[in-house]
Amino acid sequence: MLKKILLPLLLAGGFRAGAADCRPTHLQCEYLTDPLGIDAPAPRLSWEMDDPRQGARQTWYRLVVGTDSVRVMAGSGDAWQTGTVPSDAQLVVYTGAGLRPFTKYYWRVVLGDSAGLASAPAMGSFEMGMMDRRNWRGGWISDGNDRTVKPAPYFRTEFSVGKRIVSARAYIAVAGLYELSINGRPVGDHRLDPMYTRFDRRLLYVTYDVTADLQEGRNCLGVLLGNGWYNHQSTAVWHFDKAPWRNRPAFCMDLRLTYADGSVETVTTGKNWKTALSPVVFNSIYTGEHYDARKELPGWNTVGFNDTAWKEVVWRSAPAETIVAQAMAPIRAAVVLQARKFTRISDTDYVYDMGRNIAGVSSIAIAGEAGTVVRMVHGERLSADGHVDQSNINVHYRPTDDSDPFQTDIYVLGKADGVQRFHPRFGYKGFQYVEVFLSRPAVLTPASVEASFLHSDVPAAGSVASGNPTLDKIWEATNNSYLSNLFGYPTDCPQREKNGWTGDAAIASETGLYNFDGITVYEKWMADHRDEQQPNGVLPSIIPTDGWGYEWGNGPDWTSTIAIIPWNLYLFYGDTTALSRCYDNIRRYVEHIDEGYPGGLTSWGLGDWIPVKTKTPVELTSTCYYYADVMILAKAAALFGRTADHQRYLALAEKIRAAFTAKYWHSSPGIYDEGSQTQLGVPLYWGIVPDSIQARAAAALVRRVAADGYHLDVGLLGTKAILDALSENGYAGTAYRLAAQETYPSWGWWIVNGATTLYENWPIDAKSDISMNHIMFGQIGAWLYKGLGGIRPDPAEPGFRHVIVEPHFVAGLDHFEARHRGPYGFIRCAWRREKRGVTVEVVVPPNSSATIVLPGKRMEVGAGLTGGSWGRRR
Ligand code: BGC
Repeated sequence: MLKKILLPLLLAGGFRAGAADCRPTHLQCEYLTDPLGIDAPAPRLSWEMDDPRQGARQTWYRLVVGTDSVRVMAGSGDAWQTGTVPSDAQLVVYTGAGLRPFTKYYWRVVLGDSAGLASAPAMGSFEMGMMDRRNWRGGWISDGNDRTVKPAPYFRTEFSVGKRIVSARAYIAVAGLYELSINGRPVGDHRLDPMYTRFDRRLLYVTYDVTADLQEGRNCLGVLLGNGWYNHQSTAVWHFDKAPWRNRPAFCMDLRLTYADGSVETVTTGKNWKTALSPVVFNSIYTGEHYDARKELPGWNTVGFNDTAWKEVVWRSAPAETIVAQAMAPIRAAVVLQARKFTRISDTDYVYDMGRNIAGVSSIAIAGEAGTVVRMVHGERLSADGHVDQSNINVHYRPTDDSDPFQTDIYVLGKADGVQRFHPRFGYKGFQYVEVFLSRPAVLTPASVEASFLHSDVPAAGSVASGNPTLDKIWEATNNSYLSNLFGYPTDCPQREKNGWTGDAAIASETGLYNFDGITVYEKWMADHRDEQQPNGVLPSIIPTDGWGYEWGNGPDWTSTIAIIPWNLYLFYGDTTALSRCYDNIRRYVEHIDEGYPGGLTSWGLGDWIPVKTKTPVELTSTCYYYADVMILAKAAALFGRTADHQRYLALAEKIRAAFTAKYWHSSPGIYDEGSQTQLGVPLYWGIVPDSIQARAAAALVRRVAADGYHLDVGLLGTKAILDALSENGYAGTAYRLAAQETYPSWGWWIVNGATTLYENWPIDAKSDISMNHIMFGQIGAWLYKGLGGIRPDPAEPGFRHVIVEPHFVAGLDHFEARHRGPYGFIRCAWRREKRGVTVEVVVPPNSSATIVLPGKRMEVGAGLTGGSWGRRR
């Protein structure tokens, strides 16, 4: 006889009473810790509650916001005092007095614990930025060169500081990319700033605290501008060299100095700056960077440098009217890799294997004669003779001459004695291997080349660990590809295109949100969507775009990002901001499809991209996405109290479902269309299947998967759906057999063949579509949390306010653990097969609750640890 035992366990300290156990932690403003340069007039404040007691709840909060930290700490604020608010909310929108630009605010939160006793206080801060474009003081400047000029421009100015500075902030807005230095030292640790936007519509500015970088007396500001996506000089697919915004990079900067006597002075961009060409003789976000160290100007960004030979800067008009704070996780060099294998082919040719595939840059340290040319060629694989092979990734590169080689940096050694160092500043590549060609012999060692993994540095928010090493490696590879494709916007691949392909991002968003705290990047990308949407609702297939993509690839199977991502942000964060900002955009989008396809079925789209073998009618998959968008809109309408819209879109959804069922459901033998994995999985996943036939459709899918030998037969859209369609319908074991498969076609097939990232095509020897770092087959990363760990947000209480925990103890796996940090803290579900049953442990963070669902058992639990044994034999 089976017995199911699952009990809330009292944690150590569980009996202790008193609010000393309770404190607010992880204070954030706009999802950032103590941010500088916030433009949001009503910023969002959030915290977690740290309270180890079983069933811990927040019964009230008290917020104080003010400019005087001592007073705020003491509980009084000149901007906002909420008083005691009986509420369990841990995400609160500021509604105090109007916030002032350039002003630092401190905030203090005190919570009431389950018994209503006050917690210890916690403090955070946020500082407002420009807030309004009229607050800028400087002018936009450039070096006046034409956009075809290749060397990157330096800019410099000097100024005097005569009084004691208490605070200094640099605000810099750039069309292009930049490196800022003060008195010869680089400012900050961001890379590739600012993030890519549709430059003629919206530009981002970055704020730095530079108080410690300045000195009394003379100071020097130095700026180096790169091209980025603003001045795309390389020729490649989608014509970024013809972008309407394309121009020579330009910038505007205000350095705001606050002195001890309370006075403020602003050093600005203007005719007090001078410019000269730098040793960065060419730079392309797409292909590489060329640096001629013989052209270095030592001391160019330090006081006293003789700039008499430098030119005057020229004024430029602001490239866009909207210039807003870059309030998001920046790109950083998150990991630095040493070579795992080093091969000396000759004294002028060396190959470095960095051990894993990444997006980023390599750097070199080398001693050699001035004028020696170092070519660093990057690729994802080697040819049979051991050289870097770019043939899988250079298909969209359209060179007009040989001056701009693909994924190649060119470094010319200067006169300096000893070891010289180079790293590119204004581009990145996708690679595992670096081949270094030298024009003259020089000795390189394994340590001469290092690789930096660059990506938007979003905090990790989850992990999984299982008894199956291949599965764990699939998870790691999924994260590697996700991060390799996150550069302030989600991309398809870091080498061949680097484009914001909407379809790939829609597929990856849930995987991203389980694994990383990426809301800041997604909210920015949703603003990019709003910039790009046509008045009639149409979106381009790549975002941001130079104008390409309104004609191809932009049906609902790709551009439903406008609905799916805001909805996922709502589910994962319990925050309606993106959904409400995009509401009208989703509505226009849906209305556009309804106008074009009044019958409810739409054939607009690309379909199940790169399938294993079976092709699916585009109308089948696109209609499911269209249905999903309409349902999101209907639910959003209900949330925002738009009753008429809610009714209208529910009715539209029903129309779509009816048309879809009538055309594609064949009740005998009980399949959609021809019953392939995609044809059954996609309707099941997106919820268009009527309840009355859901069980039959799911059973048909299981039969299909078995008939396919538990191997995948899906493309991009089918991959998104297949595992969840199975596990959400009672077939987690079948899903696991697919997920853990190690022969072709499967994720495991890549892994057992050495993959450290996900690929673009199922065969490892495919002849086309063979990027080795695509995220488009990456939904498995989300499924691991859901299908095995069972952790799911509850749409009725989003943001993991209430968690559904429904783990599946699948055959063939002896243990599994998933952890996800949601807005309330860490949720954990771990299970392990023991001799006498399966032990299960679930941790629910303070101030939230969960429904634990096990086969034949369902229980409601509050915060804390619940554990026990399931299926124990007596
Ligand atoms: C990209 C894909 C993208 C597709 C659209 C490709 O070139 O790399 O991932 O979604 O085009 O068809």
